[in-house]
Amino acid sequence: MCGIVGIVSNKPVRGRLVEGLIRLEYRGYDSAGIAVVNGQGIVRRRAPGKIINLQTELDNAPIDGTCGIAHTRWATHGRPNKENAHPHQSGSVAIVHNGIIENFKILRQELAQNGHVFATQTDSEVIAHLIQFYLDRGMDEEAAFLACVERLEGAYALAALVGDANQTLYAARHGSPLVVGFGEGEMFVGSDAFALAPFTKRVLYLEEGDSAVVKIDAVQVRDQTGALVTRDIQTASISAVMAEKGNYRHFMEKEIHEQPEALARTMAAYIDPDSDLPIMGDTGLLLKNADRVVAIACGTAYLSASVGKYWIEALSGVHVETDIASEFRYRTPALSKNGTALFISQSGETADTLAAMRYCNRAGMGTVGIINAEESSIARETDAVMRTLAGPEIGVASTKAFTAQLAVLAMSALGMAHLRGRLSDEEIKTHIQALETLPELTRKAIATKTQCEAIAPVLAKARQTFFIGRGVYYPLALEGALKLKEITYLPAEGYAAGELKHGPIALIEDGTPVVVIAPSDPLMEKTVSNMEEIAARGAKIIAITDTAGAEYFEDRAEHTIILPDMPGLTGPIVSAIPLQLLAYYTALELGTNMDQPRNLAKSVTVE
Ligand code: G6P
Repeated sequence: MCGIVGIVSNKPVRGRLVEGLIRLEYRGYDSAGIAVVNGQGIVRRRAPGKIINLQTELDNAPIDGTCGIAHTRWATHGRPNKENAHPHQSGSVAIVHNGIIENFKILRQELAQNGHVFATQTDSEVIAHLIQFYLDRGMDEEAAFLACVERLEGAYALAALVGDANQTLYAARHGSPLVVGFGEGEMFVGSDAFALAPFTKRVLYLEEGDSAVVKIDAVQVRDQTGALVTRDIQTASISAVMAEKGNYRHFMEKEIHEQPEALARTMAAYIDPDSDLPIMGDTGLLLKNADRVVAIACGTAYLSASVGKYWIEALSGVHVETDIASEFRYRTPALSKNGTALFISQSGETADTLAAMRYCNRAGMGTVGIINAEESSIARETDAVMRTLAGPEIGVASTKAFTAQLAVLAMSALGMAHLRGRLSDEEIKTHIQALETLPELTRKAIATKTQCEAIAPVLAKARQTFFIGRGVYYPLALEGALKLKEITYLPAEGYAAGELKHGPIALIEDGTPVVVIAPSDPLMEKTVSNMEEIAARGAKIIAITDTAGAEYFEDRAEHTIILPDMPGLTGPIVSAIPLQLLAYYTALELGTNMDQPRNLAKSVTVE
C-alpha cells in the first residue's frame, strides 16, 4: 500500500508531485521519491523516511521537469532505505509501483541472465528492467510497457516513464486502485482521487486489468484483452479542504472532534424524514431475505462488525458470523446461498476484504458494503452499498469512520428488524429518536477530554494496560486496546470481562491500569463484579460509565469518566470517544506520531 502520483504538463511538475505525495502519505511513509524527465533524460531523487526528507533532498539537489512520477512507500520486499525507494530505474525507464509482484524472483532471474543488474532488494524493480528489456528488443514504448504488464503476476498499480525524452505517462492497474485526472493542459495519475483533489476533480477510474497511455491532453485506455475502451469521466466528491488539519494539532484530534457532525450526516442518510423509519435502499431486500449474515472486515472495521453482530442478532433474530477477512478468504467457509455478506471498510480498498468480497460474489451470495470511500473498489463491486458519511479520514488510526460504521450497523439492525416485523413502527421510532441524539451525546463525550488528558500519564508509564467489557462493550474493549497499541506502541489487551478469570487475571499486578467499560445496561453489575476481582488484586481502575452507573465505581475506581446517559443503541458509539481520547493523549504524552504510527498504513492494499 504505497502511494503513486504522476503528472504530465506544460508546466514544471515537481512541486505538485510532492504535494500529491503528502496527501498520499497515509498509505505509507517508509521512503519517498520522484523521477522527472528533464532535458538530459530521467533524473531521480529519493530519501528514506517521510516526505519531508525527500523535500530536503530536493532542496539540496533540485530537479524539475514537465513530466514525472512520484511514490511514497510502505515496505514489503526490502528494507525501507534509500536504495529500495521508488522510483526504480533501468536505462531509460523509471517506474513507481503499489502492490506485490508475486513472480518477481523468476523475472529477476530471467533478466539477470540477460545481463540486467539489480540495484535493490525490491520486487518492484523488475518492472523497470522488464520494460527496458523489451525496448532493447526493438519494441516501441507502449508495446514494451504492455508486454511487461502481461508478464506480471500479483497485485499492482503502476506508473512509468518510458523513454527518456517523452511527455507521456504509462499506467496500469491490477488489484490496486489507480485514477487518471483531467486538468487544463495537463493530466494526472494517482492512487486515489484525494491525491489529485487540489489539481482536478475530473477523474476516470481505471478498472481491473486496464492500462493507460496518458499524454498532456488525452488518455487512451485499454482493457485486459488489449482492446481500446472508453471509461466514464466522473467528478470526484472529495474536496481538498476537507483534508486540512485546520486549527488542530493532528488529524486524529481533528477527526475525533468531527464525530458529532459525521454521525449527524450519516444518520440523516438512513432516516426517512417523513416516516422517521429506516431507509434501507438496495440493501433492504438483501438483508430482509438473508437467513444468515456474515460480516467481514479487518482491523478497527472488524471490531465495528463485532458490535453489529450483537445488535443484528438481538433485534432481527438473524444469525451473524464475524470474520477477519484474511482468515475468511483462505479457509473454505461454509456459505449459505441465502446468506448475505457484509463488508465493512473505511477505504474500500483493503486487499483482504476486497478478496473476501470477490469470493462471496463468485459464490453467488448477496454482498453489501459499508464503506466510507465512495469511489473505492468494494463500493463499486458489491451488490449494494451503505455509505458512512464520515468524510476523508487521514489519521492512520480510525476514529470517525469507526463510529460512523457503528451508526450504519445500528440502522441496518433496525432496518432488518423492521423488514422482518420483529419490531413495530413505534419501537423502531423510539430507537431512531435515541440515535438522533448521537451528535449531542458525542459532543458531551468529547468534553471528557480534559479528564482523559489527566489520565494519560498513568497509561504512558504502565507496563501494560487492560481494557474489559461485556456484550457490546467487549468489542469496544478490543478497540480501546487496539487504539492504544497502534499509536503509543505500549502493550495493551482487550478482554471480555467474564473471561479474565480464565487466564489473563494472572497478569494483573499492583498498579496495572484496567479500563473498565461499563455504562449502565443489564450486564453492568456483572462487569462491576469482575472489576471487584481485579481491584482486589491491585489493579488501578479507570472506569468508563454513565451518570446512572457512576455510583458503582465511586469508591473503587481511581478515575471515573462519566458519559451522559446513552439510550437505545447509542452506548458503544459514544463510549468509543473516551477510548480514542485516552489513546490520543497517551501518544501526545509519549511524543509518538499518532497520525502516522510506525510500521502502519491507513489503507492496506497488500495481503
Ligand atoms: C489499517 C488501518 C486501520 C483499519 C484497517 C482496515 O490497519 O490502520 O485503522 O481499521 O486497516 O481498513 P479499512 O479501510 O478496510 O477500514
